[in-house]
Amino acid sequence: MKIERPRGTRDFLPEEMERRRAVEKVMREIAESFGYREISTPTFEHLELFTLKSGQDIVEEIYAFTDKSGRNLALRPELTAPVMRMFVNECSVMPRPMRFYYFSNCFRYERPQKGRYREFWQFGVELIGSDKPESDAEVILLAYQIMKSLNVRFSLHIGHVGLLRDVLSDVTDKDRAMRLIDKKDWKGLEMMLEEEGFSEIFHTVREISEAESLNEVRSIYPDFDYSHLESVFGILESLDLDFTPDFGIARGLDYYTGVVFEMYAEGLGAQKQVCGGGSYRLAKLFGGDDVPSTGFAIGFDRVVEVCSIEIERKPVAVVVGFGDSLRAFRVAEMLRNLGITALVDVMDRSVRKQLSFADSINADFAVFAGEELDRGKVRIKNLRTQKQEDVDLESIGSYFSEEIT
Ligand code: HAM
Repeated sequence: MKIERPRGTRDFLPEEMERRRAVEKVMREIAESFGYREISTPTFEHLELFTLKSGQDIVEEIYAFTDKSGRNLALRPELTAPVMRMFVNECSVMPRPMRFYYFSNCFRYERPQKGRYREFWQFGVELIGSDKPESDAEVILLAYQIMKSLNVRFSLHIGHVGLLRDVLSDVTDKDRAMRLIDKKDWKGLEMMLEEEGFSEIFHTVREISEAESLNEVRSIYPDFDYSHLESVFGILESLDLDFTPDFGIARGLDYYTGVVFEMYAEGLGAQKQVCGGGSYRLAKLFGGDDVPSTGFAIGFDRVVEVCSIEIERKPVAVVVGFGDSLRAFRVAEMLRNLGITALVDVMDRSVRKQLSFADSINADFAVFAGEELDRGKVRIKNLRTQKQEDVDLESIGSYFSEEIT
């Protein structure tokens, strides 16, 4: 019986994993250079953690299950709620602000398509303890640097959910209205607001989401304090970040309260959002103080798809044995100590077959573990140049540093 993997999941073969690890490394290094430190939370949590404030869309997509003791649990669909739960449980006395980053798999029961999976990875950060414009600017800058370093062609859109929520303040189900705005479902929003007798609000929302600058949005809706957004824009402009003010960003999750942002990459089709984030307040809801936070999550799989990155590959040597596996093991160990990936034959194959295996895996060197070893020498063939020579064991390091340039 052949068993297929579940719908919306993927297997990653070595080449793909090498690329993923290289991308992950860039993300980690940049986050760490800003002082963020890695954390990790459980793969599953109490279902309630996600139903309290994440929003209807997430709830509909959740992988929920009951364990043997009847607890309602869920595979994490995202990490902001778990991180804030962890903060309330474990970190409330740590010095603030706290800068955390994570790289973890998430699960959402969505209709799979290119760039949309049921198991996917997020690389994200949460900056906990400040609601100042500098904190929003910092996380936006961090996400921006990551995309730039990975040569992703993207656009950055920044808005403020407080503005839309303010406009919708008389509407009964604001969260539903925000979801419709997030999906740009203007027909749905118009119907919903008309039913409640708020056609006027609908037109204001449309105009706001089409406004292209702070001045324009201010003239459409003057009754809002734009100073926070103005400061964030000011910092980012002076740092030469290229971004588009976008006051129609509503985000798919319900917990945002202030500045929000999204990044869209070229070359991805419909699922082009590679990063989403903003400021929010969740700590109080989870039993802690009302601590402000801001952060983002990058859709790791989507970034891997469109980024351009050099993958470092260590030189690979196949140690060709002549029936004496101890010799082969010794030579392999020597090579590994020099930073060379060394493979020994474990199938008792002929020399010819070992060489053709070296060829098939695209090895750089064949190193013969023959009798010359007893005379302090080893025969090495550079499979790129086909040049073969006997090298003294003590000069083997300089041989490789010359050959690998
Ligand atoms: P989100 O926008 O729901 O935000 O997800 C962040 C990113 O995860 C998206 O921009 C997208 O690239 C990626 N993503 C989402 N669903 C899928 C999927 N099914 N397959 C592949 N990639 C996907 C959050 O999750 C928030 N927790 C972000 C945040 C952190 N806000 C503040 N802090």
